[in-house]
Amino acid sequence: MSPLHVTRTLPEDATEAALRADVRRGLTDEPKWLPPKWFYDARGSELFDRITELPEYYPTRAEREILAARSGEIAAASRARTLVELGSGSSEKTRHLLDALTSLIAYVPVDVSESALTRAGQALIAERPDLEVHALIADFTAPLVLPATPGPRLLAFLGGTIGNLLPAERAAFLASVRALLDPGDGLLLGTDLVKDERVLVRAYDDAAGVTAAFDKNVLNVVNRELGADFDPDAFEHVALWDARHEWIEMRLRARTAQTVKVPALDLAVEFAAGEELRTEVSAKFRKDGVGRELAAAELELTHWWTDAQDRFALSLSVAR
Ligand code: AVJ
Repeated sequence: MSPLHVTRTLPEDATEAALRADVRRGLTDEPKWLPPKWFYDARGSELFDRITELPEYYPTRAEREILAARSGEIAAASRARTLVELGSGSSEKTRHLLDALTSLIAYVPVDVSESALTRAGQALIAERPDLEVHALIADFTAPLVLPATPGPRLLAFLGGTIGNLLPAERAAFLASVRALLDPGDGLLLGTDLVKDERVLVRAYDDAAGVTAAFDKNVLNVVNRELGADFDPDAFEHVALWDARHEWIEMRLRARTAQTVKVPALDLAVEFAAGEELRTEVSAKFRKDGVGRELAAAELELTHWWTDAQDRFALSLSVAR
């Protein structure tokens, strides 16, 4: 059985420094914001897993439906010998793909969570002893170096997480992804699609309040890591559809005027009553726009698969 190779490109203290920088920038800006990547501590990851099982939150099920139906086609089109997966997490959805990719030699899951990577990597090695698994502990929004494994490569970025990037960040991200690929390599991208506003808003404001708890969890993270004194109950979860940008925004609205101290940053942050803090953008896409954004990064859209209800798309593009 081949061993699990684990490479850390993320210094142990990088996360702390990045969190400080983000919190200082976001909480001193007007309007205030925090980046969504800080939702995902152990509790946030658990809340996100619960979100994916909510009746209102369709993207995970829709994407799984596409992968279950189309993995054979994806494998045939890509003929990948290396599968790189950005933000692999538990690698659960990837199973269909791994099973269909019969010429696969190497699997390179990339995630910031070492525990998720090691657990998923070990389980996979037990099942597929022939597969080389190179787990990369890395932040995929920063420059990446991939291990030297055989091509062609297929790079998968699933879940619709690209929608959490703002348009300029998306362009930079796609350019950096393209830079990792050789001509003929593929990108498999999951994108949630524009649809009825009520369906979208419900997916981000569920009846059971799991998304509200997930949203407020970023305040717990800032409290724990930077010694802040946010009172999560003093904020209300807001989900709204921005029709001009075609994205969902999650915000936390201060119920009353308050001052929050962030000792690690030597900062006191004033909130007016009703003031909103943006915690996430989740962009929704159309085929034309996805094709354009890929083309701008020298990636040519070759396949477009949706679920039966046209809620979510997986696209395959090839590096030119
Ligand atoms: C991380 C992109 C899959 O934007 O839908 C779920 C995160 N936020 N509910 C999304 C999320 C609120 C999610 N993704």
